[in-house]
Amino acid sequence: MSRRTVALIFGGRSTEHEISVISARAVAAQIDPGKFSVTPVYIDRHGRWQGTRCSSEILALDLAALLRSDDPGSAAARLDSIAVENASEPFDFRAFQEDADVAFLVLHGSFGEDGRIQGCLETFGIPYTGCGVTASALAMDKELTKLCASAAGIEVADSLTILSNEYFRDPVGACREVEAGFCWPVFVKPASLGSSVGIAKVHHAAELRPALDEACLLDMKVLVEAAISGREIEVAVLGNDEPIASVPGEIVPGSEFYDFEDKYIRNAAKMYIPARLSETESEAVRNAALVVFRALGCRGLSRIDFFVENSTSRIVLNEVNTIPGFTDVSMYPMLMAATGIDFPELVTRLLELALENASDSNNR
Ligand SMILES: Nc1ncnc2c1ncn2[C@@H]1O[C@H](COP(=O)(O)OP(=O)(O)O)[C@@H](O)[C@H]1O
Ligand SMILES: [Mg+2]
Repeated sequence: MSRRTVALIFGGRSTEHEISVISARAVAAQIDPGKFSVTPVYIDRHGRWQGTRCSSEILALDLAALLRSDDPGSAAARLDSIAVENASEPFDFRAFQEDADVAFLVLHGSFGEDGRIQGCLETFGIPYTGCGVTASALAMDKELTKLCASAAGIEVADSLTILSNEYFRDPVGACREVEAGFCWPVFVKPASLGSSVGIAKVHHAAELRPALDEACLLDMKVLVEAAISGREIEVAVLGNDEPIASVPGEIVPGSEFYDFEDKYIRNAAKMYIPARLSETESEAVRNAALVVFRALGCRGLSRIDFFVENSTSRIVLNEVNTIPGFTDVSMYPMLMAATGIDFPELVTRLLELALENASDSNNR
């Protein structure tokens, strides 16, 4: 087989832009040069697709080090200045469409993980890694994810959905409805963001309104969810028609919950691979992950996150990440490695699954 050209697409119009750049650098380092040649495609924060010179320069940056430095803002500034320096090099969509055999998507959050870029690539006729348009869109929306999963028999936390425009018309009424329906604490979360952006643990009535104000400014739809007191367990799923589930991993947040700082700045959270579960619990979580993967119609990969409730051992779905973090220390590649698939092999398999998926859907 001749070498395939992989368009490695990263960056994007999302709050997780920098994480995507770091993940892309890790993926690029693992793509098998014997099988694939890589063309980096950086989408800047404003949604502009950048040419190869700019994209390569950004991929070469050690952004993780900049984010850890005394001035984390310098990371965003550096990305912007590279894009500005290369502004005269336009992105050649025609060449992209003709040359790319497959796209490796390392875009987190809005526009990347939610079906929009997938639709764009379908239109171009370029196969891509991971879930298709519908599964991506469903998984991005925490309310729709829960509806699909519970229809398939998976337990989810009780929640109330609040539409932001209605909330701003009557915030007092919305707060009253929450107070009547839930015990404290509750979690308030934007339906379609990631990285814990806009998420708050609300301990009593006085904290509710500020939390809803913030979340409703960030998203058109917000969930108020009963807090689950339990362990956070994540499962990596890989495959198309016959997906496999990894050994489960466990996150122990370094703060009250797994918030943005804990994820990317303090690094205080602890990871256990495998999770500290009994054999029976572990099997049950793996099976639940496969049920959720199928219920949403996922393809390629997803990281499926659960709680295992302390008092009952009940397995409760939290959320589905169709393009999970892909840095060297991210849960998804580490879970796969613990299951016998190392990072380079994982990247090759994802690309092969993308090509297989595209040829299957063309033949149906
Ligand atoms: N219902 C809940 N009960 C307990 N903890 C929760 C709940 N919802 C969210 N959390 C905490 O908030 C974190 C982020 O929430 P999550 O729904 O996973 O959003 P994100 O997409 O931003 O990762 C979780 O990892 C967990 O620590
Ligand atoms: Mg999460």
